[in-house]
Amino acid sequence: MTTTVRTRVAIVGAGPAGLLLSHLLAQSGIDSIVVDQRTREQIESTIRAGILEQGTVELLDTLGDFSRARTVGTRHNGIELRFAGHGHRIDFPGLVGRSVWLYPQHEALKDLIAARLAGGQDLRFGVTVERVEDNDIPRVIAKEADGQELIIEADFIVGADGSRSVVRPAVTGTSQGGYFREYPFAWFGILTEAPASAEELIYSNSPDGFALISQRSPTVQRMYFQCDPDADPNALSEEEIWGMLQARVPGTTLTEGPIFQRDVLRFRSFVAHELRKGRIAIVGDAAHTVPPTGAKGMNLAVADVVLLNRALQALLLENDERLIDGFADAALHRIWKAQHFSWWMTSMLHSTPEATEFDHRRQLGELRSVVESEAGSTFLAEAYTGWPLPAA
Ligand code: PHB
Repeated sequence: MTTTVRTRVAIVGAGPAGLLLSHLLAQSGIDSIVVDQRTREQIESTIRAGILEQGTVELLDTLGDFSRARTVGTRHNGIELRFAGHGHRIDFPGLVGRSVWLYPQHEALKDLIAARLAGGQDLRFGVTVERVEDNDIPRVIAKEADGQELIIEADFIVGADGSRSVVRPAVTGTSQGGYFREYPFAWFGILTEAPASAEELIYSNSPDGFALISQRSPTVQRMYFQCDPDADPNALSEEEIWGMLQARVPGTTLTEGPIFQRDVLRFRSFVAHELRKGRIAIVGDAAHTVPPTGAKGMNLAVADVVLLNRALQALLLENDERLIDGFADAALHRIWKAQHFSWWMTSMLHSTPEATEFDHRRQLGELRSVVESEAGSTFLAEAYTGWPLPAA
């Protein structure tokens, strides 16, 4: 049995990009169907990013009471860069009049899912997309959780289905078509049940390598230290992990607690060669990946969606193709700035296996140029809190 359904925009992926796009489209009366391979429980419980730019929080505000970013999340007015035995605070409101919010991505996803379902969104979990086509009519060919074939016919298809996107090959021609860079290190990440060790995030460049002290809630903390990309997350004891972290943030005594999750995050930079072909576009991690050091991943997905929403409104409501024709260039403008910022933060804070003493001293010089100069600190604060978004 095959079920065929029709909608204006078929959205593959119920992550932040797909759900936010369905919300923005619905605000201008454009209906969509969102499908995701995962269950709602999986989506709502996978621990991902933690930092939202101010513009992202303002967009989530349009969910009304469904957004808990400002109530459950915490406003952060700065970060600390630590190196050569000292901490240096970057004061975001003082430099650029903006802030960021620490609000875990899975909490934002709970808000988005609840808001979309309350708004009558056709949102289907457990749907595996096999392929998409753009022949006479754009079509998504998928299997529902019970094995039945589902065909979605639409005016436009959006791939918001993450770094292993099934939609991407229909846009780029091959599954990997893009600009790509790998890094010779990864992050060893932990979640620990403990009170916060610092009020704001600490990004530390130490002789032993990078560490980041982040948070999730008053009782759960997220911390990372630089490791080998092939490291086995289960090879270290809890005592060894605390030893690694503590050595990398001299000057702060970390509050230890039980470690209940550990993972190794590989670092990649990727930008797809094409973001749109005909009536199919890709956004978010399907279109690009950044290393996590600049906290740009989810925020960049949101920026793609703001642009695509405007382009789809013009296309579907006014039959005006100009914005959709310009979508890729407009999105790539910000994507490459975010690629640079994420690469820059990464390269300034980590040690590479082949780094010489010259490289290490040059890095300290670079960090001093940032923290001792208002221009340098402002550059960081502008990028970290997020360049202005176009109106949604
Ligand atoms: C996190 O809390 O997971 C986090 C925060 C800041 C980053 C990266 C990750 O730059």
